[in-house]
Amino acid sequence: MTHTLLGQTLSFHADPFIEGSAAATHHSHGAVVIKDGHIGWVGPAEARPKTPGEQITDYGDKLITAGFVDAHVHYPQTAIIASWGKRLIDWLNSYTFPEEARFGDAGYAAQVAERYMDLALAHGTTTMCSYATIHPESVDAFFMAAQTRGMRALAGKTCMDRNAPDTLRDTAQSAYDDSKALLEKWHGQGRLEYVITPRFSPTSTPDQLAALGALWAEHPDCLMQTHLSEQVEEIAWVRDLFPAACDYLDSYEAHGLLGPRAVYGHAIHLEPRERDRLREIGAGLVHCPTSNTFIGSGLFQMAALKAAGQRVGLATDTGGGSSFSMLRTMAAAYEVGQLTGTALHPAQLIWLATCGSAEGLHLSDKIGNLAKGREADLAILDLSSTPAIAQRAARAEDIWQALFPTIMMGDDRAVADVWVGGRRVQN
Ligand code: GUN
Ligand code: ZN
Repeated sequence: MTHTLLGQTLSFHADPFIEGSAAATHHSHGAVVIKDGHIGWVGPAEARPKTPGEQITDYGDKLITAGFVDAHVHYPQTAIIASWGKRLIDWLNSYTFPEEARFGDAGYAAQVAERYMDLALAHGTTTMCSYATIHPESVDAFFMAAQTRGMRALAGKTCMDRNAPDTLRDTAQSAYDDSKALLEKWHGQGRLEYVITPRFSPTSTPDQLAALGALWAEHPDCLMQTHLSEQVEEIAWVRDLFPAACDYLDSYEAHGLLGPRAVYGHAIHLEPRERDRLREIGAGLVHCPTSNTFIGSGLFQMAALKAAGQRVGLATDTGGGSSFSMLRTMAAAYEVGQLTGTALHPAQLIWLATCGSAEGLHLSDKIGNLAKGREADLAILDLSSTPAIAQRAARAEDIWQALFPTIMMGDDRAVADVWVGGRRVQN
């Protein structure tokens, strides 16, 4: 079955941090042809191939983009999003750990996973890379919710064997065994990917980090995700806990947890050596701007890191992040850019939320762009979704002026429709 979508289309043939807005291709009367769950053709509507019996959905002047890719979330923190008044370590102890302790109950884990997936899709997010909790049940719940919806989704059991409550601690051996069993169960099942997930150096003993490093060495096609240099107090704690490490990144590298398929969340307060090493290895970094302002962590150096050739994705970091929306997250990235001396262009912002995050997760050959052969995960954006946005967009003279008010002021009301694997999701 061929399905043709008509509307404005936006795709990228290059990185706008290198080529500017010329990296994008925009058609004001465009078409996307979907066949067998994949994008078969993108271009101007008048030039589109016509297939007998094709279905057509006309989105008028709405914008068809790749679905958003959220490169770092904690789905188990859905119910504690927007919890007041703490910084990272006391936020984890006061809000996060008590909530995560509930996920040994498979029924509760399933309920939150379902709720999270519905929220993500309603906000136009079609792929996410999530942390679960220490409980294997929480990983099963996430993957089952994604599988039911046909989503490309990534997650792993969050491993912790110290500096966490008794009920949230595994061991070096059980972290290895449980992660391995979950990896064998889920990795490569349809559109699902298992990600090896030590929470962060402070909550893992060197033995546990080494056990997970060994597991990664046995499964080098998996991603490994963790947190890096988010808050200054955390960095000082890592220095005390790992006296032999020359810096935070070294606490991972010394245990086999640095490689091209590593994905580090936050990475705000990097030492020059860490930056150089990350770039040399080609590891991915994930910018979580609503979280970094909400928990008071600091300002990610996007322009400098991108100029240095670093691979960078964008993420909500729900529920340290204060929103499920990648639009809100782009707005926060813009604001953090301003505070660090660079006004990110709307082309760069939407590229980060789609292509950039897909690149960060090594998935750019599959998702993140409106391009022939990619999986048909799409977000359809109404660029006049509220009176405030509409009156500003009415003055727009090009696509970037039309899109920017939605980036800065938009939310789930701007997401008119979502497609997952070539199937329309009722929004
Ligand atoms: N560092 C370790 N765990 C977490 C978490 O759950 N959220 C954030 N923002 N940072 C972390
Ligand atoms: Zn996180």
